[in-house]
Parts: sequence; C-alpha cells; structure tokens
Amino acid sequence: MRVLGIETSCDETAVALVETNPWSTDILAQIVSSQIDLHRPYGGVVPEVATREHLRNLPLLVPQVLKDLNLTLDSIDAVAATEGPGLASSLLIGHSYARALAVALSKPMFGVNHLEGHLYSPFLANRRSVEFPFVGLIVSGGHTLLVHALGWDRYIKLGSTVDDAAGEAFDKVAKLLGLPYPGGPEIEKIALKGNPEAFGLPRSFPERDNLNFSFSGLKTAVRFFHEKSAQMRNDPEWINDLCASFQKAVIDVLVRKAVQAVAQARVERLAVSGGVMCNKTLRDELEFACYEAGIELILAEPSLCTDNAGMIAGVAAEKLAAGIEPRCGDDINPNLNLFSPEPHGDMARGLNAAIKLKNRQSKQLPEEGDVAPAGEVEVW
Ligand code: KG4
Ligand code: ZN
Repeated sequence: MRVLGIETSCDETAVALVETNPWSTDILAQIVSSQIDLHRPYGGVVPEVATREHLRNLPLLVPQVLKDLNLTLDSIDAVAATEGPGLASSLLIGHSYARALAVALSKPMFGVNHLEGHLYSPFLANRRSVEFPFVGLIVSGGHTLLVHALGWDRYIKLGSTVDDAAGEAFDKVAKLLGLPYPGGPEIEKIALKGNPEAFGLPRSFPERDNLNFSFSGLKTAVRFFHEKSAQMRNDPEWINDLCASFQKAVIDVLVRKAVQAVAQARVERLAVSGGVMCNKTLRDELEFACYEAGIELILAEPSLCTDNAGMIAGVAAEKLAAGIEPRCGDDINPNLNLFSPEPHGDMARGLNAAIKLKNRQSKQLPEEGDVAPAGEVEVW
C-alpha cells in the first residue's frame, strides 16, 4: 500500500510517498521545501508569502518525488493531506491539490490532523508501526501538548500551554536579544557557551500533577533581566549565560512534566516530536530522565520532528492498514481539534473520572461544573 502525503500547514511545502509493510510504514521518498529564508526578514511567518510558495512548489514537488523513485501516479493507492490545524490559506493549497489529485486518480483521500501526524512521527522515524497506548509530547512553534493516545482517533489531553508555545518562547526571547528567526537553533548555539545556573529564572506550574505549561512568565523574566542590565547586555558572556539559563528553564519543565504524564497515564512509552525537539540538550536530558524512570522513549530524528509529509502520509497508511475508512472533510479546518467531542469509551471515561476525583481530593478542581471544555480532558 502506497500513500502520497502533502503537508502545507505552515511554512514548509512537503511531499512524501510512504509504503506499508507488515511491521512498519516506511518513507520511500520525501522532499521538504523550507521557506525560512523568505520569512526571516519579517521575523516570523507571513501567511501570504507562505501561500504563494506552496502554490509554486506543489506542482513541482509531487512529480519530483515520483520521478526520484522511477514511479508514476498509477502506483499511488491513496492520497493524504493535512486538514488542520494551521494557517488557513496554506492548508487550503495542499488540501485542494490533494483532493483534485485523488478525484483524478479515483483513489481514496484522507484528511489528516497535523497533530496526529506529529504524534505518529516518532514511530515512523524508528521504522515501527504505532503502538498504543502511549503518551505523546508535541513541542513546536505553535503547540506544547501532552496527549494520552489510546488508539487511532482516541486521544485525551493531559496538558497544554496556557499561553506561549515553547518554540514561540524561544522565538520571542531570540527577537528580544536581537537574534534571527527562528530563534530556537540560535539560542541553542549560544547556550552551549553559557552557564545554565547563572540566572534564577521561574519554572511554571511546579505542582506535581499539574501537566499544563506556561512560558510567558519566563519570557517576561528574561525581558526584565535584559532591560535592567543595559551595560551587561553588550557582554557576550552575559548573553551566553542568559540564553543557557532560559533554555534550561524550558527544558526542566518539559522533561519533568513529560515523565510525570507517563506516570499519571500509567503507560510505558513516551513519543515526542515537534521542532523544539531538535534541541540536542533537550533530547539528551529527556533520554536521561526516561532511562532513570524506566520509560521507553521514542524520539524522532530532527528531520521528522519538524513539519514533514511523511507523518501525514504515514497516519493515512497506518489507518488504512488498520481497516479504518478513509475520511476527508469537504474543507480545511484551521482550528481542527484532536480531541473528539465525546469521551472515548469506557477506558477514557474511567480515566477522566479518576483524574477529576484525584484533583478534587487535592483541591485543584473546586467546583463540579468547573471542568475542561467539551472533549478536552484536562488534568486540573
Ligand atoms: O515543528 P516546527 O518546525 O513548526 C511548527 O511550529 O509547527 O517548529 C518550529 C519551532 C520554532 O519555534 C523554532 O524556534 C523551534 O521549533 N526550534 C527549536 C530548535 N529548532 C527549532 N527550538 C529549540 N532548539 C532548537 N534546536
Ligand atoms: Zn507542526
């Protein structure tokens, strides 16, 4: 079974062809065309520029992927594209192109949730089929999310950021320090030369069973040090220390909450992805913490942590292999939710009830009516 995948949710145009095998789904070929150089002068992604590039790139990349493999369109069994969440105009280009292609070829079409792609990408990267249940951690420029994955389309939200995503915090702190976009790789480089203990920066939500994140206080603390120290900030060593301390504060919270989420969900494996997971110090610290806690860590290599089409095609291919009917909405959905409106069966209902009871006992959920929005089971 071969699935062609298209991903255009933000500023990368990506096309991949994957193939299912009995024990895994493998990427046969993939091209990811990054637009970072075009957006850098603006300090962030400009939707109109991204849309124009997707429109220009897609008709070139699809034939190129097939040509690289010496294959034709006939060899595709299904088409998949990102349905959401993401930038509306960017999503529309890839989704419309994929739908037109599927209709022309008379092949099934899958609309895939971008976040489901990220949850699955560590398995794809390690050339193994997805194994439920697991806890997924997605750390990107748009999301910081902990998910209890029970099965395909059966996800429970364990925690998420209440303000900035971790990648967004890296980008904003970098901007404050006059570093280029995207800020994560720049801060990582500079942090290598600094002392991570030099500044006492805050860690959000230190309570053990609170799995939410907040990075805006940390960002404000960096701004405070920066503005207060007009003389020091011209000293490269001072900047190195500030970057190292900021990075350490982000990593501490991510690692601690990921390990805690695995314990709370009572699973054995943690699958992580998203652009911030390219950070080598974060990868090392998470590996060490998981080793100590006896957690199986499934980590994607950097090229599959960031946005890619292999993960979109892979979700469709694995669902087809599991006998799940192809599903595609008529339209894209920039706010597509990963969590279905109803709790997912007995297991999720039981977990939900147990979490609420536990939190009420620890006085974190004062009122019966004070629960998470429909479909989003939050640990509070
Ligand atoms: O997953 P991604 O490519 O795009 C989405 O946001 O979906 O993630 C991009 C984010 C940016 O905020 C970027 O600064 C951050 O990932 N990032 C990093 C590193 N590489 C990319 N953050 C920290 N350290 C890195 N090495
Ligand atoms: Zn993404």
